[in-house]
Amino acid sequence: MTTSRVAADQTSIFPRFLDLAYPNIERGDGVWLYTTSGERILDACSGGAMVSSLGHGAREIIDAGTRQAEKIAYFYMDHFTNEPQERLAERLVAVAAPEMARVRFASSGSEANETALRLARAYHVDRGEPDRWRVISPAQAYHGSTMATLALTGRTRTLQDPYAPYLSPHLHVGNGDSALSELDQRLEEAGPGNVAAFFCEPISGAAYPAYSPPEKFWRGLDARRKQHGFLICFDEVVTGMGRAGSWFAYQQLPIEPDIVTTGKGLGAGYAPISAVLCKQHVYDAIDRGSRFFDLGHTWDGAPISCATGLAVLDALAGRGLVQRVRERGPRLLADLRSAVEDNRLVAEVRGRGFLLGVSLVDLPDEMHADERVEDAALNHGLLVSATHSTADGYAGDEVLLAPAFTSTDEELEMMVLRFGQALADVARSLAQG
Ligand SMILES: Cc1ncc(COP(=O)(O)O)c(C=O)c1O
Repeated sequence: MTTSRVAADQTSIFPRFLDLAYPNIERGDGVWLYTTSGERILDACSGGAMVSSLGHGAREIIDAGTRQAEKIAYFYMDHFTNEPQERLAERLVAVAAPEMARVRFASSGSEANETALRLARAYHVDRGEPDRWRVISPAQAYHGSTMATLALTGRTRTLQDPYAPYLSPHLHVGNGDSALSELDQRLEEAGPGNVAAFFCEPISGAAYPAYSPPEKFWRGLDARRKQHGFLICFDEVVTGMGRAGSWFAYQQLPIEPDIVTTGKGLGAGYAPISAVLCKQHVYDAIDRGSRFFDLGHTWDGAPISCATGLAVLDALAGRGLVQRVRERGPRLLADLRSAVEDNRLVAEVRGRGFLLGVSLVDLPDEMHADERVEDAALNHGLLVSATHSTADGYAGDEVLLAPAFTSTDEELEMMVLRFGQALADVARSLAQG
């Protein structure tokens, strides 16, 4: 199959969108993607899902995976451990998350968040509080595709509807100044003694890019944790490993989670690997209680995934890339703001590190602004990611830019320029009806 665009009726794949003819990508180099017909696309979204933070074709990461595969690529962690897993856990805690004590690996963000939920539940059960099971989380969020993680979002119409019978009835809060009083209402509704965890992204990824509640919210959340005894789980599947300009985003906030997950940037697109990290007191509850946390997926902690994760961590640390993201991020945000400031479709531009979001003004659903933005960007040879959340009534369409940390200044400038041009095209086409 070397067709440059593949439609549903030309493939044995069960595609995600049956009406889309998918460009066929053959290879990548740095921030450039090449289709089978030789088109060049500038990747402003780290592979489209905020994953490839070291760009495509990073030789040292490929070599690390290859070297490990030559020794041994896979065995099951139920019976054994391995040096890459041991070293990656140690390095994560030493370098990236010194506030945490223990690490459990998985393969995807969904698995990591599912594991975090199960760990929060196990913590309470092992401490003799089995009534604690409910979770409170912000509605405008995405935490994964498994039924337990899908239940955490409040985006009913766009994400949950067909699966509602399978989903636990968790409770949700909105964004902004009212979030804290909504949290109090939800605690009251659930009964504070039944709440296991508050689950959220410290800085939002795709669902509300680069948004973080005001400091007052975090301080209030911390006070309520102390008062009511629930745990705080942060989903840093997107923001962990440097994306927001610090190793973990919570390091920019006046609060630390009890449990934190990370994924995407940990393998940086070279291996599917995610991780759940927890503080000492969470580990202690299991240590003093049942003495097992028996949740595993076949690929958890596999040698090839961990060797790859270790090489990624070493590259981030050794090349000072988290610092580059922190220092270069503000200019990228300023440039993006000036590129779209005259565009009447733009409601707000936000950014933290190399995680940037453009909220569009509220437009009728049938205008499909998200699809128009992605198409217009591709017409300009640019990959960005857009989501549509208006239908749930929380926010408008969101466009996400999340370049590789290794992008050159020139490439970043080109991303901004092409994005400004693409959004201008969308504004023009919408004006024409
Ligand atoms: C914030 C957040 N959490 C969890 C996930 C789920 O990760 P995965 O798709 O690797 O299961 C995603 C995926 O986009 C995400 O953005």
